[in-house]
Amino acid sequence: MKKKLLGALLSVAMVATLLTGCGGGEQAETTAPAADNAEAPAENAEAPAEGEAAAAPAEANGKKVGVAMPTQSSERWINDGANMKAQLEALGYEVDLQYAEDDVQAQVSQIENMIASGANCLVIASIDSSALVNVEAQAKEAGIPIIAYDRLLMDTDAVSYYATFDNKGVGTAIGKYIEEKKDLANTTETYTIEFFMGSPDDNNAHMLYDGLMEVLQPYLDKGTLVCKSGRTSFDDTCILRWSQETAQQNCENYLTGFYADEDLDICATAFDGFAYGCKAALEGAGYTADNWPLVTGQDAELMATKNIISGSQTMSIYKDTRLLAEKCVKMVQAVLEGEEPEINDTEQYNNNVIVVPSYLCTPVAVDKDNYKEIIVDGGYYTEEQLAE
Ligand code: BGC
Repeated sequence: MKKKLLGALLSVAMVATLLTGCGGGEQAETTAPAADNAEAPAENAEAPAEGEAAAAPAEANGKKVGVAMPTQSSERWINDGANMKAQLEALGYEVDLQYAEDDVQAQVSQIENMIASGANCLVIASIDSSALVNVEAQAKEAGIPIIAYDRLLMDTDAVSYYATFDNKGVGTAIGKYIEEKKDLANTTETYTIEFFMGSPDDNNAHMLYDGLMEVLQPYLDKGTLVCKSGRTSFDDTCILRWSQETAQQNCENYLTGFYADEDLDICATAFDGFAYGCKAALEGAGYTADNWPLVTGQDAELMATKNIISGSQTMSIYKDTRLLAEKCVKMVQAVLEGEEPEINDTEQYNNNVIVVPSYLCTPVAVDKDNYKEIIVDGGYYTEEQLAE
């Protein structure tokens, strides 16, 4: 009953989101996880008790939360923003949700405006986290607490908490998936592999790389894995702003430059967008189901999950953005109400100034064998959406 009530509230909030959009300009319609599954996080969320739900809960007291998101060019951030807005509004907070479309300066201005217009708390998923140091200092000066969302805010002491997924764990999960599927520990075969890593200004990308290489480096050293381009370091494989186009270009270059006589067996990519880029490059180079490589990704976007079903992507990392939003909302409540939010890591996330107390959600590898159980049964996408 309580769940239903919050679900209804969140749905209303979602509709409001879709109707009014946000100050950041046109807001794309979100895919299902946010709207259809708004009930899911209610289990653990501070749901209003029955009977109080109709009125905005008093605790929020009209407080304003500024939510700065990086881009709408990838589905996950649209879902993150929608989930955050819906969950915060359900608790009675006023929400200013802004997307900066991967423009670093635009994000700085959006955050400045949030401060100027009286935000009581800021939630920031950064584009280039080091570029926000000054505006974060302004927020601190004004007594406005900051929560880092998904991406660590670097080089600042103005951040109170960090809600994210276990970013090194994402890399390890991708590495382990490749290790298992290719039976790297036992095989006498060799497999060719190329790497497509994330943006150098995103701490997550470095952690993912570290986790991935912890698993795969021994196989590169042994020669079980062969990277014919020779590009295995983070610096050689990172892709600025997680650009799908650059991933496609890199893949095209590798295929023409190094794989004219031998197939590429593994595209180790850090992002579903990169998997789409590789898919286009592979198709262009004439790859078919018979020699299609193992292609990894991250986020389990709707399109990626469809590609997993149809076979052009092998796996992705499912990150339940509903859960992340729920943990982040708890942090917002805590800093505004003087409570202690749930934290499960106080060691890993040193931003060069402080170690930021963090809550790490668990990433899960999904492929055609478990997507039904994890994604469909978990209420993230419906079978109908996946069949469209
Ligand atoms: C996030 C990933 C996402 C990537 C590109 C990273 O910071 O953790 O989930 O795939 O950004 O948007």
